[in-house]
Amino acid sequence: MVAFVAAMGTTGRCGILLFTLLAQFCCAHSWKIDPLILNEQLLWIGGGAGEVHTYRIPLITFTPRGSLLAFAEARKSSSVDMQAKFIALRRSTDRGLTWSPTSFIVDDGSLVDGLNLGSVIVDEERKSVMLIYSLCFYHYHCSPSSTMLIESLDDGLSWSAPRNLSVQLGVKSFIPGPGFGIQKRYNPAKGRLVACGHGTISGDGVFCIFSDNHGRTWKNGAALKSIPYNQPKQSQDFNPDESQPVEMEDGTIVVNIRNQMKYHCNCRIIARSLDGGESLPMEEVTFDKTLVDPVVAAGALQKEGVLYFTNPANSEHRVNLTLRWSLTNGKSWQEEAVQIWAGPSGYSSMTSLKSDYPEDKKYIYVIYEKGHKDYCETISFAKIHLYGGL
Ligand SMILES: *[C@@H]1O[C@H](CO)[C@@H](O)[C@H](O)[C@H]1NC(C)=O
Ligand SMILES: *[C@@H]1O[C@H](CO)[C@@H](O)[C@H](O)[C@H]1NC(C)=O
Repeated sequence: MVAFVAAMGTTGRCGILLFTLLAQFCCAHSWKIDPLILNEQLLWIGGGAGEVHTYRIPLITFTPRGSLLAFAEARKSSSVDMQAKFIALRRSTDRGLTWSPTSFIVDDGSLVDGLNLGSVIVDEERKSVMLIYSLCFYHYHCSPSSTMLIESLDDGLSWSAPRNLSVQLGVKSFIPGPGFGIQKRYNPAKGRLVACGHGTISGDGVFCIFSDNHGRTWKNGAALKSIPYNQPKQSQDFNPDESQPVEMEDGTIVVNIRNQMKYHCNCRIIARSLDGGESLPMEEVTFDKTLVDPVVAAGALQKEGVLYFTNPANSEHRVNLTLRWSLTNGKSWQEEAVQIWAGPSGYSSMTSLKSDYPEDKKYIYVIYEKGHKDYCETISFAKIHLYGGL
């Protein structure tokens, strides 16, 4: 590719013609995937400025109008999970080049066991963006747990008042994601919204909820329960935890799952739903030993038939944030992984824009926890060109 670029520089118009031809190849899938970080910027920096101590749990989504929305928990007084928080939002309308100032779209006041993120879901037919989060997950000086939803119908500019989904789903402790939920693009259950999340330490497992009417009502779907269920865990128990669902082009939902107690391997648990998120049968559960993992929330994305995966690729520590890709729906991974950040790195999430505009076929967007001494120092956004910058 380097040789080609040099040649293009010296051949003027002819070079440009050739470039146009190659660019067409690129977008018809046949071009080799060669991810290049085109630009990276810090969206949030912790350290106590203003009313926020630490930003964690980054989420990113496309919108039906071609914008990007980035969300994070803004933890008010320290870096620990259980404390009062805001949900922070920044918005980009130019494919990640510039971002709006932060707005705080939800404030849980001074609740110690307040909100936890969360899954963002886009309904492309209704042109809506929904964000689902939990309240009172740990039952610390509060009861019961609630699953809450806010929605934007104007590209993330304004948000509805929180709606309490527990009225329909029940009050089981449930933190969606963290990551995105999906709208099924293929049958079975085309058009359905599906979000998956996890339960409490004892009642843990992966649980999916779904809606067949654009988010108006929700039902409980698949449950992949931990063993022993509703009992304290010990090392190497089966304990599926935080997860990211993606839809394959055959309509299967593949759920990439945090392996909390390192059952079977220091690697990811993979579950598959063949019925649009209503079940995650045990026969479809596998362990992906290529996806070595230190026990963390990871990112997954299906784009143009290629499956992408991000995590801190290390069996013990949250370091070495790495992008992998699979041309075989996750049965195997390409050898040439790309390291996004060598140092401390934690949770990550990915998205891509879905317009017919050819440029949007070339990029994916990664958001992740990044630091020098500790992974929770900042939240970083990386724009990745899938075809080596061409
Ligand atoms: C949500 O609904 C459930 C079930 O009706 C209720 O017990 C819970 O208190 C509600 N939560 C909030 C925050 O209103
Ligand atoms: C980083 O990830 C790559 C790809 O999986 C792996 O080869 C390398 O050993 C990892 N390095 C560290 C320090 O974990």
